[in-house]
Amino acid sequence: MPLRVAIVGSGPAGIYTAEALTKQSAEPVEVDVLERLPTPYGLVRYGVAPDHTSIKSIAGYLRRVLEQPGIRFLGGVELGRHITVDDLRAAYDAVVYCTGAMVDRRMNIPGEDLPGSVAATDFVNWYCGHPDVPADAFTLDSTEVAVIGVGNVAVDVVRILAKTAAELRTTDVPEEVLGALADSQVKAIHMIGRRGPEHAKFTLKELRELGELANADVSVRPDEAGDNDVSELSRQIRGNVEVLRGWAARTPVGRPRRLDVRFWLRPVEIIGTDRVEGIRLERTALSDGRVVGTGVFETIPAGMVLRSVGYQSVPLPGVPFDERSATVPNTAGRIAPGQYVAGWLKRGPTGVIGTNKSDAAETVRTLLADLAAEPVAPPAVRLDDLLAERGVRPITYAEWLSIEAAEAERARSLGRGERVKLVGLAAMLAACGREQAPA
Ligand SMILES: Cc1cc2nc3c(=O)[nH]c(=O)nc-3n(C[C@H](O)[C@H](O)[C@H](O)COP(=O)(O)OP(=O)(O)OC[C@H]3O[C@@H](n4cnc5c(N)ncnc54)[C@H](O)[C@@H]3O)c2cc1C
Ligand SMILES: NC(=O)c1ccc[n+]([C@@H]2O[C@H](COP(=O)([O-])OP(=O)(O)OC[C@H]3O[C@@H](n4cnc5c(N)ncnc54)[C@H](OP(=O)(O)O)[C@@H]3O)[C@@H](O)[C@H]2O)c1
Repeated sequence: MPLRVAIVGSGPAGIYTAEALTKQSAEPVEVDVLERLPTPYGLVRYGVAPDHTSIKSIAGYLRRVLEQPGIRFLGGVELGRHITVDDLRAAYDAVVYCTGAMVDRRMNIPGEDLPGSVAATDFVNWYCGHPDVPADAFTLDSTEVAVIGVGNVAVDVVRILAKTAAELRTTDVPEEVLGALADSQVKAIHMIGRRGPEHAKFTLKELRELGELANADVSVRPDEAGDNDVSELSRQIRGNVEVLRGWAARTPVGRPRRLDVRFWLRPVEIIGTDRVEGIRLERTALSDGRVVGTGVFETIPAGMVLRSVGYQSVPLPGVPFDERSATVPNTAGRIAPGQYVAGWLKRGPTGVIGTNKSDAAETVRTLLADLAAEPVAPPAVRLDDLLAERGVRPITYAEWLSIEAAEAERARSLGRGERVKLVGLAAMLAACGREQAPA
């Protein structure tokens, strides 16, 4: 009997786990990849910025893994809704949870929930066409936007706000999103870091792209860019600081939009009565290596505040969860014999797509070593039978391909790029020839 493994989540971690399981030759394996959405690839489809087409092309690699014999994709199947941990334990020799990090981290400051205060998770989901966020969720009717955080997600969000709709026309952004971007009133974007340029989390390649925007002048204040010696710092950090100092010496050339990159300012309140009117910030400084407030405050007027301060995993019912780190406690991927974890749910929401490959490989080594040390009895039930009893008809890989085909057709009919995302579950299910949601 081949080993039967369920992987929950079809992002990079899930698919690299499937690859590591099928690539090894010690044990014949059958893998089911379960995914709550009708579509695979997690954040590669619903996170990676639409204008980063070369990174998005990694989906081609993930696709080849999903098409390997012994691997099955079951979309529209959600752990906690259609199936339980006990179901999976009964139906498989081992289960690997790879459900990523779906929600935003909170800043816990007053005004965070005012209309116009937006989590980057929602904004990214919107422009990526994620079915959880309606296509008309945002209108960009504010002239000033503050983006909190200086990581790579903040850089993505800033770039999408700064570019013109024409520049994004050949990407896969939904047509409705392209319309909202065409109507954008945004003139000034303030990107705000609570520490200095040398502490920013963005990477050099991504930062440089902001300096090459055709539609926006970029500026940094010389006093915030600093002039301290950075020659001892890593090449990556030195590069960031040098780029930012270069921008501090630039003169605006009158492009339609302005990007102001700010440092040493920590958010203390999002202000406004019925909706966001601005953000109050306290200037910070280093004291004994720690960032402290200086008691000097500044308010930036903004009709929209985009909080890009990190993603966070959510607990899965029946799976242990450490609330403090928002990860699943594990040892080299093992939660308990028979139950494993990989990807952002295992190590937190950091790292690029490739990081999940070695991470998944570690988890698979642990899983195989456990099963070799203590063989388990063959599973007593079949997931397909459990799902059928509950009236759940998973989206098959072939049906996913028909969603892809419909997206390519939409792009052709609109005269746009390779694909245009379908928005909403109903449109995706219609592309599969189904009328109803899976359940
Ligand atoms: C906005 C953004 C942009 C990024 N851009 C880049 C980039 O350009 N380059 C790069 O290298 N890295 C990028 N990253 C990082 C990269 O996307 C992550 O490292 C990677 O996606 C994490 O993989 P994962 O499989 O752990 O999680 P995810 O990719 O989030 O996949 C998790 C999957 O699990 C599914 N799921 C969740 N809950 C359930 C459930 N209960 N039942 C069934 N399925 C479930 C989800 O729908 C999802 O498909 C970006 C990250 C973000 C947030
Ligand atoms: N092109 C790419 O390769 C790409 C694109 C997107 C994402 N990613 C990856 O995906 C991962 C997640 O990216 P991310 O940008 O979400 O997270 P991140 O890299 O952790 O950056 C989060 C940012 O938010 C700031 N922050 C956190 N809490 C804050 C608070 N309370 N107030 C103000 N600022 C706060 C952090 O500042 P402190 O440092 O001071 O905490 C940091 O600047 C990263 O590993 C990233 O590299 C990669």
